[in-house]
Amino acid sequence: MGTDKEAKPSTYMKSDIGPDFLIRRCTLEDLEGVIEVNERELPEDYPFFFYKSILDNFPESFIVACKKDNPKKIIGYIMWRIEKVPSLNNLKLINKAHLVSIAVSEDNRRKGVSTALLNESMPAVLKEDISEYVLEVRVSNYPAINLYKKFNYKVHSIKKKYYRDGENAYFMIKKVKNI
Ligand SMILES: CC(C)(COP(=O)(O)OP(=O)(O)OC[C@H]1O[C@@H](n2cnc3c(N)ncnc32)[C@H](O)[C@@H]1OP(=O)(O)O)[C@@H](O)C(=O)NCCC(=O)NCCS
Repeated sequence: MGTDKEAKPSTYMKSDIGPDFLIRRCTLEDLEGVIEVNERELPEDYPFFFYKSILDNFPESFIVACKKDNPKKIIGYIMWRIEKVPSLNNLKLINKAHLVSIAVSEDNRRKGVSTALLNESMPAVLKEDISEYVLEVRVSNYPAINLYKKFNYKVHSIKKKYYRDGENAYFMIKKVKNI
């Protein structure tokens, strides 16, 4: 029988994230840790049921990061949802992958954790036959904008006063196919 501290190897993913970290699919037990990271690192909070519904509906792309020596403590997460929207050209419904949230605790940043979270989750949402990846980011959030540009996301437009405090958002898109 395994101990609490033992990692289940099959649940871990192989993204190259250095020797100290592990990433894996989020579980119900992880949600408290995810919420803790979110509340510490981002001004946008969500109720528990919101996280739970993302986990229930899009489990393959809800991924968490932890340290190898403390695999139960969540230090980063990413979550996506798939949205069905009418295409501009022919009004058929198409799928978009919307990045709901990503955050890494401050003391673990600049170590490639977000890069690994994106590397693992983007192929997972791609399985949903999406036309594009989309996200919003505060216009002042230089680290995140840089991260997304590194993954070839482009600024598509500005959403005025998108955030509750009145800050504008860049709406960024990475196209998967032309529609
Ligand atoms: C943005 C954030 C998720 C990046 O996480 P991270 O694990 O530190 O990112 P990585 O180490 O994988 O960095 C990947 C790339 O992102 C960019 N980047 C990350 N932090 C940066 C910083 N402080 N300044 C400039 N660029 C930065 C760089 O291009 C970096 O590549 P490089 O290290 O080769 O230069 C993290 O800073 C964070 O959690 N911020 C608070 C929450 C947040 O803003 N979430 C995004 C909301 S839209």
